[in-house]
Amino acid sequence: MIELSHVSKHFGEETAVDDITLRIAKGKFCALVGTSGCGKSTTLRMINRLIEHSAGEITLDGQLIENYDPVKLRRRIGYVIQSTGLFPHWTVARNIGLVPRLLKWSGEDVTSRVSELMNLLGLPVAEFAHKYPHQLSGGQAQRVGVARALAADPDILLMDEPFGALDPITREKLQDELAKLQARMHKTVVFVTHDMDEALKLADHLVVMRDGGIVQQGTPLALLQHPADPFVESLLGGLERGLKQAALTRIKDHMSSLGPTLPAQSRIPGDFSLRQALSMMLRDHSDRLTVVDQQDVPIGELSLRKIVKEAQLDKG
Ligand SMILES: Nc1ncnc2c1ncn2[C@@H]1O[C@H](COP(=O)(O)OP(=O)(O)O)[C@@H](O)[C@H]1O
Ligand SMILES: [Mg+2]
Repeated sequence: MIELSHVSKHFGEETAVDDITLRIAKGKFCALVGTSGCGKSTTLRMINRLIEHSAGEITLDGQLIENYDPVKLRRRIGYVIQSTGLFPHWTVARNIGLVPRLLKWSGEDVTSRVSELMNLLGLPVAEFAHKYPHQLSGGQAQRVGVARALAADPDILLMDEPFGALDPITREKLQDELAKLQARMHKTVVFVTHDMDEALKLADHLVVMRDGGIVQQGTPLALLQHPADPFVESLLGGLERGLKQAALTRIKDHMSSLGPTLPAQSRIPGDFSLRQALSMMLRDHSDRLTVVDQQDVPIGELSLRKIVKEAQLDKG
């Protein structure tokens, strides 16, 4: 649905984005990762035409973005930035209702949409609707930013380091909520971050950029298994790569059926990750775990030997 074909951006002498080609399928979550200054934000802002590209083609659903009516484009694309960009003298409710008002929705429709979004993002209307941005914590302000971006129900969401300024705990909470929200909404998301763990956790499609170009792209697991070069490998955590891969793998996919021997002492739910299983094995000095379902009923077992062997197979 979003397609960039040989797209470049020059600022005078400088090339910020250099001949990138990228396809993002409808409903997918794409993360752009790379060190500061590699062209991530410029790429994002060319998609909603905050920046005009210098060369190449950008299309939405096969239509060149320059052929879209700007109002229609704004309706289709939500945009969230790190500093939230909320208007300081407007209440939370007024900030969230910005785009629907620009689109001339009726007052009633705006009010009900604002309430719906505030509830969706865990901001009780009675408590927050009349607050001003300076009365909010960083995490609350970022929720308002996301609510505002979703207000006109766009099918595309562009997010530029939205959680970059938050403390680690708030950040992780908002990542989890975004993942849940995305599982329900199926927006097409382009998400910029320099935090690889955040990207691995959220993305269906991972794009690694360097010096304005794309070095490698693919699923998080594919990149973890076959990083294209030492740069990508180091971004992916070098020696930690195996554990990051384990974090993306569910226990259920690697367990074997319950054997005739006694079940292992330690129990772990099947929807936990292999990384969590490995951690439990280390903690409990055990190379075998009993896998249980949500009712705590044993459904299989997990052996360290098998995990290690299969990890090697995946690599080959
Ligand atoms: N408006 C601008 N004018 C001149 N140079 C710019 C402008 N915006 C970005 N750049 C340059 O383009 C490069 C890529 O910037 P950016 O896309 O913001 O990187 P990132 O988001 O990955 O940190 C940087 O070298 C930056 O200095
Ligand atoms: Mg940036």
